[in-house]
Amino acid sequence: MLRVENPRVEFTTNPLGIDESRPRFSWTPIHSKRGRRQKAYRIIVASSLENALRSISDVWDSGIVESDENVVEYGGSPLKSFTRYFWRVRWWDDKGGESEWSDVAWFETAVLDSGEWRGKWIGGGQLLRREFYIDGDVAEARVYIAGLGYYELRMNGVRVGDRVLDPPWSEYSRTVYYSVYDVTDIVRKGLNAVAVMLGRGRYAQKFSGVKYYGEPKLLLLLRVKLVDGRVMEVYSDESWRCLEKGPIISDDIYNGFRYDFRLEPVGWDKPGFDESSWKLCTVVDPPGGVLRSTATIPATKVMAVLKPREFYSPRPGVYVFDFGQNITGWVRLRVRGSLGAEVRIRYAEILNTDGTINTKNLRGAEATDVFILRGNGVETLEPRFTYHGFRYAEVSTASGYIAPPSLDDVEALVVHADLESIGSIVTSNKLVNDIHKIVMWSLKGNLMNGVQTDCPQRDERMGWLGDAWLSSDSAMLNFNMVRYYEKIMQDIIDSQKEDGSIPDTVPPYWNTYPADPAWGTAFIYIPWMLYTYYGDRRVIEKVYVYAKKWWNYLYTKAKDGVLYFSKYGDWVPPGRVFNIQDCPFEIIATWILYRDAKILSSMARALGKPDEAKYFEERASEIANAFNKAFLHEVEIFGRKVAGYFSIYTSQAGTQLYLGSPRFGGSQTCLALPLVEGLVPQEKVKDIVEALVYSIEVDWDKHFNVGILGAKYVPEALARYGYLQLAYEAITQETYPSFGYMIREGATTLWERWEKLTGSGMNSHNHHMFGSIDAWFYRWLAGIQVAEPGFKKFIVKPPLIKGLNHVSTKIYTVKGLVHVAWVNEGDKLKLVIDVPVGSIAELHLPKIAKSIEVVESGKTIWREGKFTPTEGIISAKEEKEEIVIEIGSGNYNFELTSSPP
Ligand code: BGC
Repeated sequence: MLRVENPRVEFTTNPLGIDESRPRFSWTPIHSKRGRRQKAYRIIVASSLENALRSISDVWDSGIVESDENVVEYGGSPLKSFTRYFWRVRWWDDKGGESEWSDVAWFETAVLDSGEWRGKWIGGGQLLRREFYIDGDVAEARVYIAGLGYYELRMNGVRVGDRVLDPPWSEYSRTVYYSVYDVTDIVRKGLNAVAVMLGRGRYAQKFSGVKYYGEPKLLLLLRVKLVDGRVMEVYSDESWRCLEKGPIISDDIYNGFRYDFRLEPVGWDKPGFDESSWKLCTVVDPPGGVLRSTATIPATKVMAVLKPREFYSPRPGVYVFDFGQNITGWVRLRVRGSLGAEVRIRYAEILNTDGTINTKNLRGAEATDVFILRGNGVETLEPRFTYHGFRYAEVSTASGYIAPPSLDDVEALVVHADLESIGSIVTSNKLVNDIHKIVMWSLKGNLMNGVQTDCPQRDERMGWLGDAWLSSDSAMLNFNMVRYYEKIMQDIIDSQKEDGSIPDTVPPYWNTYPADPAWGTAFIYIPWMLYTYYGDRRVIEKVYVYAKKWWNYLYTKAKDGVLYFSKYGDWVPPGRVFNIQDCPFEIIATWILYRDAKILSSMARALGKPDEAKYFEERASEIANAFNKAFLHEVEIFGRKVAGYFSIYTSQAGTQLYLGSPRFGGSQTCLALPLVEGLVPQEKVKDIVEALVYSIEVDWDKHFNVGILGAKYVPEALARYGYLQLAYEAITQETYPSFGYMIREGATTLWERWEKLTGSGMNSHNHHMFGSIDAWFYRWLAGIQVAEPGFKKFIVKPPLIKGLNHVSTKIYTVKGLVHVAWVNEGDKLKLVIDVPVGSIAELHLPKIAKSIEVVESGKTIWREGKFTPTEGIISAKEEKEEIVIEIGSGNYNFELTSSPP
């Protein structure tokens, strides 16, 4: 009846090599009966599998703890480094039920104390190697490696692990990530070789404008436990051998990978290789940052392989492959060619009209991989240490000869973070499903290298914070983002200056200090959303002090509560990049200052700091007043009174200029922002909503006129203020500007711009920042909204939308599965819902008729205003437009019909 699923440590199944001293345990309590809560839990941690199996807690026993928490910090005595721990959990429900112990799960520690690191940072070559002798049988072996900028680890002739583009990017002077590998199956008694190829990555990138940290370097520790109990350590130091000029001609994230197979020493990664011509490696300065383990941060990997859909030859000797999907990754090509033949693979998102690839929008990124062949039969070409954003790949030769490739010889490797997928949504509207699909591709293709890039193809690929927070709700509902975003928060902390300022892009590879407030808000918004969606307290505990500093930095720039500091505004609305005309920057900046104060106040409250909560609450209300005073106006235009949010300036000639013109409706974004934050004075709400609706319906013929901020908040404002149908119709437009237009014009990922552009400049075909729309689908089409952190309580409100008949959603929350599927049959509304143990769902069922009957699994629970309780259903009441029913955990089947007279 009671079970435990999903025992995790740091939100990861059996993590290898964590460095968290107080790791978080979590589990999903499962119960076959309705309306159950967890009343208590008990965790035991043991030093061996045998002990754990016999439930002997020789490391830590939490005891029976009365609590409904299912994310719990380790509370035992300090953990030891390099140690595997085994654990189990069980729980009790509120009616005396007791679960079995969970299966035994484990976690293994890496280096918990930096003093335990052995090894020196070394450099001086592309290829580094060391042989070593093991004089006993191997019980287990681990490698701890930090190779900057990127590395490929090989041992005894094989590549170790499946991480690519590792380690994740960071501000290397503050944090350097290392990865842990289990190499027990590779290391053997006798002679062994460990070999590393280093790439430049971000650490050693030499690209104009991008921060350069230093030349590639390596820190490696290999620990081998022998069966007889001895531990042997091999680590990087001056005894290693380096090949300075190896096969890599050049490698760069933007420009591509160039490799000469003729210069790759055969057998260099195997024992017994003649390394006498290699120099000794040199000990170099450490990069400076604290070493942190990647064990629980989703790693970048090859996640799928695509076959080309077609290929053709636009010019003799030039072959273009179409993969049918814009992706992030690279091509793997098998060729047979002449010795020294130079094979080129170029990448592009779009084509020219003559079928050749169009690379103009890659700007300065050459995005070209070059391979020089050995000419000894079929050779497999695959780049390292670079990646590309592309749908098309062009294969050609610059010199020499290759046999013309066929469809079978080419594949595209889809590369992104190995994120656990936790959410899905399917609706009766194909276009909505298609929009969801392109959002997913854009999110995935920009979640890699441990950051959230803006785009994967051009000379940019930076962790732009504006883009990150705007799509973060969508990312959090679809993927398990806890550890990924926690890592990004560390990046921001690492980038913060003394004065509190943070950059627009993290890690700070570009100098973009101080951030635009609407970009820097990621530092406040994302932690708060991690708390909201996942109940993640640790992140707000950690970030709060730094986030306050950032907010304060902005606050001191404000004049009388209005913030004039801003850089980008409502970025990329239809027809342009900057949007000064429609929505003045100061409106956005001040709105952000207000919202951040509100969030900080909520954070302070959640952290048990009522005084600070009050402080931010007071600042927020001052800013709110200043906001309305400065921007809420009513003017007469062409004899018509128009209310709106805009700025009034006086020109030199003395005429009044309305920036953010209130001309019949005004800027959609400027109207929506105060609405969603409840900033509009009650008596003006109707006017502002009407102005917004007028702009969308009349001025824009049911289309949005929004940049990336408006794209998130205009649909939200409409839905909240009674215009869900209009929002839905604007979202599902197929004419410009709209998502449907992008898709009709062939988009398989979200574009950066509403226009179909094929030139240079700001014209990426894979930007995730408009992806905020996907969270809107979950909120308003599935109808799921979080009411208490971590889905402890959530609202389910199936919408009545013309043209939408059913929606089905699953979200694997920290509490467990939330499943909502509704079907609208006109005179009947069916709703299937799963509520996890310990959660409460508040159903808001629309009154589809005057008198409603609600049947649940065959039993009438509501009729003629009367509620008949049944198992799991806590309460029901009638409100103006809906029946509100509260239910506890379990599976339910509701049917709503008009009750017969
Ligand atoms: C990036 C955007 C980013 C913007 C800010 C662009 O170059 O691609 O996504 O938010 O700059 O100005």
